[in-house]
Amino acid sequence: MKHFLNLIDLTRDELHGLLSNAAQHKAAHAQGTEPRSLAGRVVALIFEKPSLRTRVSFESGIAQLGGTSLYLPGNEVGLGWRETLADFARTISNYVDLLVLRVYQHATLEGLARYASVPIINGLSDWSHPCQGLADLLTVRELFGNEKGRTVAFVGDGNNVARSLAVGCGKLGINFILACPEGYGFDDKFKADYCRRVSRHFPKEVNNPAQAVKKADVIYTDVWTSMGQEAEREERLRRFAGFQVNSKLLAKAPKHVKVLHCLPAHRGEEITDEVMDGPACVAFQQAANRLHAQKAIMEWLLT
Ligand code: CP
Ligand code: NVA
Repeated sequence: MKHFLNLIDLTRDELHGLLSNAAQHKAAHAQGTEPRSLAGRVVALIFEKPSLRTRVSFESGIAQLGGTSLYLPGNEVGLGWRETLADFARTISNYVDLLVLRVYQHATLEGLARYASVPIINGLSDWSHPCQGLADLLTVRELFGNEKGRTVAFVGDGNNVARSLAVGCGKLGINFILACPEGYGFDDKFKADYCRRVSRHFPKEVNNPAQAVKKADVIYTDVWTSMGQEAEREERLRRFAGFQVNSKLLAKAPKHVKVLHCLPAHRGEEITDEVMDGPACVAFQQAANRLHAQKAIMEWLLT
């Protein structure tokens, strides 16, 4: 049984295969020649947290490939509290062909994966966001052709999005550098996983954003306070104050630099309006790529 819980579980070849299928889906979508590869399939989307991009791109993508989607808010199905994860997984596996989950705790996904007899896609957990990571890599590939040897500077929190992107970059030979305040970098568990399963060369971490972007082809940022961390918001606003992606920081990067953001953006915090709406920002191309990347993931799991 294959699942899509973390990019670290994929081989380089699988990652390349998903990216080329995603690109094919994008071209087919533009030409109106998409395959009906999910005809007769039902996909359940179980979300404990809010979403625009993940939910809508999955639901639309499933419809475009001829499948059916069911949206189930986590509190309605009582995920993890109305019955055990094991009972939940064994039951729902009888009704649907694929599960997409957005959860607070990554352990919920691992628990379900143990008992489900259908594949599970991680639609974001506190640990990782692999669907986002795949769409990000597709975007980098579109921007630069061959992504190998490029440099991505992630300015912000060493969070779920940063971990997935760092792993994806490591697997494809893209340099990844994290600029964050002291104490908000990657943790030891991630370091150990990365060094064991991706590369011995762990991404560089700095506390100075200007230093990080100096040779960057891509500057990436995400919110400073992720879903579930709301109680830390005031503290985080203070700690991340010098880590805003603004015109002053862009001026320190090479002229060709592009800016990515997984969205939703907290304009005026991690990124300014000027950068978000400026010519370097490709966040909406990146958001569009979620649709195509996820079609490739679903086909990989189901066909
Ligand atoms: N980037 C992303 O996952 O967006 P949503 O939270 O809106 O799904
Ligand atoms: N790091 C953010 C990403 C949202 C798509 C969060 O987890 O809230």
